[in-house]
Amino acid sequence: MAELEGLEFGKSDFVLLDEVTMEQFMENLKLRFEKGRIYTYIGEVVVSVNPYQQMDIYGKETIDAYRGRELYENPPHLYAVSDAAYKAMKRRAKDTCIVISGESGAGKTEASKYIMQYIAAITNPSQRKEVESVKNVLLKSNCVLEAFGNAKTNRNDNSSRFGKYMDINFNFNGDPTGGHINNYLLEKSRVVHQQEGERNFHSFYQLLRGGSQDMLASFHLVNDPAVYTYTKEGAATATSNNDRSSHKAVMSALEVIGFTKEEINSIYQILASILLLGNMQFESDGESVQIQGLEAVNQISELTDTEPDSVSKTLLYRTVATGGGEVIEKGHTEQEACFGRDAFAKALYERLFGWIVSRINSVIEVKDYNPVLHGKNTVIGVLDIYGFEIFDNNSFEQFCINYCNEKLQQLFIELILRQEQGEYQREGITWQHIDYFNNQIIVDLVEQSHKGIISILDEACLTVGKVTDTVCLDSMDTKLAQHPHYTSRKLSPADKTMDFQKDFRIRHYAGDVTYSVEGFLDKNKDMLYQDFKRLMYNSANPVLKEMWPDGHLSITEVTKRPLTAATLFKNSIVALVDKLACKEPYYVRCIKPNEVKSPVLFDDARCEHQVAYLGLMENVMVRRAGFAYRQPYARFLQRYKMTCEYTWPNHLMASDREAVEAIVTQHGFQDDVAYGHTKLFVRTPRSLFTLEQERAALIPILVLFLQKVWRGALARLRCRRMRAIYAIMGCYKRYKVKAHFWEVERRFANVRTMADYGKTVEWPSPPAALSQFHNITVMLHRRWWARQIVKKLPPSNMLEVRAKVAALTALSGERKDWGVRRAWERDYLANVRDCPQTSSGFIRVSKELRNKDEYSQVLFSSFCRKVNRFNKSTDRGLLITDKYIYKLDPKKQNKVLKKLPLDVFTGLSVTSGVDQMVALHTSSQDDVLLCLQRGELCPNQDRVGELVGSLVDHFTRIRKVQLPVKVCCSAVQLHMRGKPKNITVETKPGQAHADFKKSRDGFVLLVPAN
Ligand SMILES: Nc1ncnc2c1ncn2[C@@H]1O[C@H](COP(=O)(O)OP(=O)(O)OP(=O)(O)O)[C@@H](O)[C@H]1O
Ligand SMILES: [Mg+2]
Repeated sequence: MAELEGLEFGKSDFVLLDEVTMEQFMENLKLRFEKGRIYTYIGEVVVSVNPYQQMDIYGKETIDAYRGRELYENPPHLYAVSDAAYKAMKRRAKDTCIVISGESGAGKTEASKYIMQYIAAITNPSQRKEVESVKNVLLKSNCVLEAFGNAKTNRNDNSSRFGKYMDINFNFNGDPTGGHINNYLLEKSRVVHQQEGERNFHSFYQLLRGGSQDMLASFHLVNDPAVYTYTKEGAATATSNNDRSSHKAVMSALEVIGFTKEEINSIYQILASILLLGNMQFESDGESVQIQGLEAVNQISELTDTEPDSVSKTLLYRTVATGGGEVIEKGHTEQEACFGRDAFAKALYERLFGWIVSRINSVIEVKDYNPVLHGKNTVIGVLDIYGFEIFDNNSFEQFCINYCNEKLQQLFIELILRQEQGEYQREGITWQHIDYFNNQIIVDLVEQSHKGIISILDEACLTVGKVTDTVCLDSMDTKLAQHPHYTSRKLSPADKTMDFQKDFRIRHYAGDVTYSVEGFLDKNKDMLYQDFKRLMYNSANPVLKEMWPDGHLSITEVTKRPLTAATLFKNSIVALVDKLACKEPYYVRCIKPNEVKSPVLFDDARCEHQVAYLGLMENVMVRRAGFAYRQPYARFLQRYKMTCEYTWPNHLMASDREAVEAIVTQHGFQDDVAYGHTKLFVRTPRSLFTLEQERAALIPILVLFLQKVWRGALARLRCRRMRAIYAIMGCYKRYKVKAHFWEVERRFANVRTMADYGKTVEWPSPPAALSQFHNITVMLHRRWWARQIVKKLPPSNMLEVRAKVAALTALSGERKDWGVRRAWERDYLANVRDCPQTSSGFIRVSKELRNKDEYSQVLFSSFCRKVNRFNKSTDRGLLITDKYIYKLDPKKQNKVLKKLPLDVFTGLSVTSGVDQMVALHTSSQDDVLLCLQRGELCPNQDRVGELVGSLVDHFTRIRKVQLPVKVCCSAVQLHMRGKPKNITVETKPGQAHADFKKSRDGFVLLVPAN
């Protein structure tokens, strides 16, 4: 905060002076300068004293300290006004401008660079590429403009010899999107002539001292400024500028900005042409004038891409249109040729400078701007324009520059002093009027039509015939004799500081300036023979051609006189003032502490003079009497209503003014405000700051509140939608379920009467919710269907059906052929058709066994080939009853060879093939291995399935135990007398019947090939 600075540094704001006197003002200014405090406020105006030494107050840390802070929170600084201007632009979408004024060498250009640096540093936090590139070009443009527009003068080693106003455009985000540079009155006379000890524009020395040998050779130059007439004067002067490194910096800046290689080359070609032109001499033989040494002509024609003949002709002749429309060529006198050459050199440079500015503008202009998309395009303008100049010899340029300063002072008076006082009056605020000097009278002296100096000059220029500067001075003396701010030797003969017929004096608001009228008319006419324009327009170099568009007019067409230099300048300054007047202004008033660039010397008289003419005292007085801030009641309320319970969210009072009063009273600064008719006036910024702080603290709470309400509303909306969705989904699901039922009902309505009981009816695909239900109903239907089928079977078939079902389950589809399609007759040994020769004998044995062993049912019987205990295979009869399994010897009337109770059997193994091998596993690990043989019934029928089905059905239904069945793909494993054996099946061609053969680890069942 400003108060953070101790009192030993003086007052940080001149408004705080105990008494507003010049003594106190100067004392404070000097004290601060000596203590290294170069900035001091007058309210929002920054007074800056050139320190003439590097100050450690411009780094990143300082920028961070000022970013987003209020003016009075930190010690006075350029950054603070920059931030204020930026905030005004961002917060209130106001266009703002920063006007930097002060005399030559007071630090305006440096200040403008710090301001740009600050704005660049605080914008584009998201580092967007296009914004970064705009900033880069804006910053780099300074380097280029300074090279071509600045020069060393006796007052300033880097004096801006042109006025600059730069607009920076911002988007709604507050990031720079582009800009525009206006340049004002380049001091082009410097190209051909400099005062003693001064230099030409930096660009020439940079080229001559920094350009590479190759470059210079290609331009026909040598690296010595003393060789060239135009740079000779400044060649030896010591300067703080390092031309060589500057040249490098300028070249790289040109590239960064986007100048092409050809364009950069053209720029330096033009500079070279100017230098060569300067050295050109003419000689006269009494009749005609000639150029001395034609080499330069060739070089210039080469550099400007024109014909050598045209160059020399243009330098020596001018085309004149006679009254009759005829065109004749008129030779120059030696003097005219020199004048033409210099005018050409000046014009070349001026147009080059103008072209560089417009080229930079074309790069930084805001492109693709759409107000709907990008919001309001706001602008911060920075004006760095020549300060008031009083030299020993003041000419036309000083006259223009000082007029410009008068205009800017007018603007200052208009904006800061008059408007301020006018507003207090309008708003009915008690107010003590402050007297200040209104310089309108001087502005009128210069610019008034008919009577003003510019008018008189223009009139003299228009007059046909020889009107000299002295004649013009006479005319001014006559017309302005009564003017209190104009005088000359003729009007004040006693004043010996002026010469007769040469000088006139204007009493400027900043002091008296004596101008020498010599050269005024020429400079005002700014004459350049048309032939030069045509020469350049016809150049094959497109850059040059572009600089001289007016060269396309033929001599007979050029009738209208161009506007004079003074009028052009006046118009551009009037336009500038209009531009500034519609923006919110911020002022930086620069003061030069001494003439010798010393960091320690404070020249009291010089400084007092500047303080006086800059009107700083009046500024302090108005400021002290006035109010720092004002805002219409409605706007004030809108911004701060959340800081008071009576006004948030809306007040119920009779008027906004009362509501504002409530806010003010609540915060206790009734004594710091005044109530106008439409606005509230706040005297000190501190009060507003307090409000701002409170507002800033409340905003997050309000944001949270609004977010809460809005999020609630959003959630409710979402909830209602979800409910609706679920309701719709519910209805739809119910409909799908019902539709499924209806469809099932429709399809299966007549299953009872259908021949296949609905086996072929296709089930509708169920909705997901009914998938389990669907599976159950399909199963139910199948069961019901099976029941219908089974119901129809005669009881005698039941045993076979059961056995087949058991086989189906036990073999689980792994054995392809298991005889399901034929009738299962079980007791094949007793079957006459199957065993016609042996059946009767078997029936007898079977009866005896039934009587003896009391079995009630034969489960299966058949012949088989069996491996005996000596590992030999023999034919046997196999009889399986519900009690025993018998092994019979068919050769001995079916004598029982072995009888095994059924419950020793623990499982069965069969193969997945078509062989008839069966392994009956026993609990004693002495398994029975056999291969069924078929009888007469059908030699190829499968009987393995039947054996498996009958046994498994018996075991599960009657014995209620599981009989596991293993279907083996390769070998069948079993045990014989406790030893594991592997039985494989092999096809053997020529084998008549299936038979076992011993193998290494068991047996092989050899089966016939077909
Ligand atoms: N803030 C500063 N810190 C350090 N040196 C400064 C500062 N301001 C100015 N100077 C010094 O003063 C010199 C002149 O300043 P500057 O070129 O800004 O003057 P000016 O007001 O633009 O003059 P002119 O009207 O001639 O262009 C600079 O070259 C620099 O050496
Ligand atoms: Mg400058």
